[in-house]
Amino acid sequence: RVNGLRPLVERLVTRLLDAADARGGAPADLVEDFASPLALSVICVLLGVPEEDREQFRTWVRQFATVSGPPEEAVEGREKLGAYISGLVAAKQEAPGDDVLSALIAARAGADRLSFEELVGLGYTLLGAGYDSTAGQIANFVLTLLAHHPEQWRHLADHPQDVPAAVEELLRYVNLNATDTSGLPRIATEDVLVGGARIPAGEAVFLAFASANRDEAVFPDADRLDFARTGNGHLAFGHGIHNCLGAPLARIELTVALRELTRRYPATRLAVPEDELPWRVGDVNHSLLALPVHLAAAPS
Ligand code: HEM
Repeated sequence: RVNGLRPLVERLVTRLLDAADARGGAPADLVEDFASPLALSVICVLLGVPEEDREQFRTWVRQFATVSGPPEEAVEGREKLGAYISGLVAAKQEAPGDDVLSALIAARAGADRLSFEELVGLGYTLLGAGYDSTAGQIANFVLTLLAHHPEQWRHLADHPQDVPAAVEELLRYVNLNATDTSGLPRIATEDVLVGGARIPAGEAVFLAFASANRDEAVFPDADRLDFARTGNGHLAFGHGIHNCLGAPLARIELTVALRELTRRYPATRLAVPEDELPWRVGDVNHSLLALPVHLAAAPS
């Protein structure tokens, strides 16, 4: 099913970049105009959110996902979204579509089907886990390359076959979960020993994937961005039973986005100095609020 989504991702990327071109040389905001609508459209297709509802859906998602705004807004967004997803599940129970939500409604293990609450919960989870993370990493990858490794951007423009390996290396190298301010928490359900440290039952711990991904014992020369790295066993998608369910889809989105951006615009540069870029603060994901760039096919 995920492989079947590749043509859709290709079409969305082309459409968004054509729209950026049509603005005739004005800087494009790769968060608002590209990464965010791409990642959200893919989730909307997965869930089967009809085209006419997407703008409204997007407003609620943003309210729900933004922790730096007024808390009442986040609560309102969550409630509206919950009601919407419940309505969507009910509608698809009546009239199934060609989407993952309908497939999940039909799925059964033995005599057991997913309950209505479980289906709504899954809708939320796909949205919460799959939208902001993918949009955030697309923008983070572009910034890392343009601001710090412009020669690698041009390398990908000339060697599109290296993009999948570049995506793996950027997943390792770029920190999506800013564990110095926030991150993915776990609560120990029993006393546990990790690396010689005892974590008592009930204590919270943060998973520092970003630190693990720069572990010198695992990745030689870990602070180097190296597309030729082999055996890249990074933890960007987690590990174990909570390993990212959407990793194959995220890989498609990241690969198509990076391949097309570098192929179409090898001479792209930031439109503002890096230290003026606005970041979301205090959220699980370390992501940009805007990324203005000059998309350019040739140096100006
Ligand atoms: C670059 C994009 C993405 C990154 C970096 C990412 C990263 C992660 C990480 C680190 C986890 C593990 C969380 C934990 O251990 O608590 C996770 C879980 C998950 N992700 Fe992703 N993800 C991405 C995209 C997506 C997409 C596109 C989807 C769905 C369409 C998705 C769905 C999920 C789900 C459902 C889980 C929970 C799995 C579970 O708890 O069993 N993710 N993701």
